[in-house]
Amino acid sequence: MNYKIGLIRGDGIGPEIVNEAKKVLDRICEKYGHSFEYEDILMGGCSIDVHGVPLTDGAIEAAKGSDAVLMGSIGGNTSTSPWYKLPPDKRPEAGLLGIRKALGLFANLRPSKLYKELSSACPLRKETADKGFDMLIMRELTGGLYFGDRYTKDVNGVRTAVDTLSYNEDEIRRIAVKAFEVAKKRRKKVTSIDKANVLDSSRLWRAVTEEVSKDYPDIALEHMLVDNAAMQLVKDPGQFDVILTENMFGDILSDEAAEITGSIGMLPSASLNETKFGLYEPSGGSAPDIAGKNIANPIATILSAAMMLRFSFDLTEEADRIDNAVQAVLSKGIRTGDIWSEGLRRVSTSEMGDAVCDEI
Ligand code: IPM
Ligand code: MG
Repeated sequence: MNYKIGLIRGDGIGPEIVNEAKKVLDRICEKYGHSFEYEDILMGGCSIDVHGVPLTDGAIEAAKGSDAVLMGSIGGNTSTSPWYKLPPDKRPEAGLLGIRKALGLFANLRPSKLYKELSSACPLRKETADKGFDMLIMRELTGGLYFGDRYTKDVNGVRTAVDTLSYNEDEIRRIAVKAFEVAKKRRKKVTSIDKANVLDSSRLWRAVTEEVSKDYPDIALEHMLVDNAAMQLVKDPGQFDVILTENMFGDILSDEAAEITGSIGMLPSASLNETKFGLYEPSGGSAPDIAGKNIANPIATILSAAMMLRFSFDLTEEADRIDNAVQAVLSKGIRTGDIWSEGLRRVSTSEMGDAVCDEI
């Protein structure tokens, strides 16, 4: 098969981790006779440095012209990087939000599972870690607080800032459908997370989710308040299968769900629209403090590439092959620093990429 892949290497550790994922994709091509063509797309801080803006129309066009986009990470150190002296709509993150909106990527899938090999790196209580967990967060990605009206103004001499949280029923319905569809192929449970005891947007979220659930009689739906969900994630993460939630809650809970796997460097993600197109990226950030040191964990990006093969290209066997290779590398005790512990083999970013390739 021939596919065109847009590569957003981005900032910080982005270029290093994307290199390793590309190495793995090249290995898959070799093994299965596919041919992937790559086009580099500038976005984030590196685009600001060249074009003065985090996302150009040309970058959006290049992404649209690809079958899928693989991304590293964008952004820098918020207190020291010159990018953060710019107005908010010119900063690196605005590029990411802009591309999500421009491509209509409303469904963000963030799977979080504890590999048994990493249970000692899991920060939870041993009894909890031993039970394991395997969940998928379905985060709404193009609505809510991230995209509502916002402004800061002077009201009678008092600086006042406003952000707006708005959802319409269509936006809720389409993401709920995605959650129920994916639950069909998993353990058939959806936990919809909201703040319906306070927010109108959450009450509508709950009502629409209930409506959608009528079309999925085999899937169990439960509702959970977001504060309780934050607690349940550390107390009993094994109870979750598919978590369905809005943009901001999903942002926060997905970092928590990532960290309990042992490292945020383990979590892939897929951002999808209604077509086969997707943008695939690790859930973690650009980690500017360790950038360029060849110590970052590339596994989340490698697993994101596997998600790309699975969801955008329907290359299930190849995707499984990558997932299994990662599993095999972990079983052999090969670890980057973030998941390393005494007695295991500590490797660099590029050595981790090589180790995964060796298993394919
Ligand atoms: C994420 C990130 C982004 C978000 C930032 C970089 C804008 O934290 O993908 O979770 O908040 O969505
Ligand atoms: Mg986040």
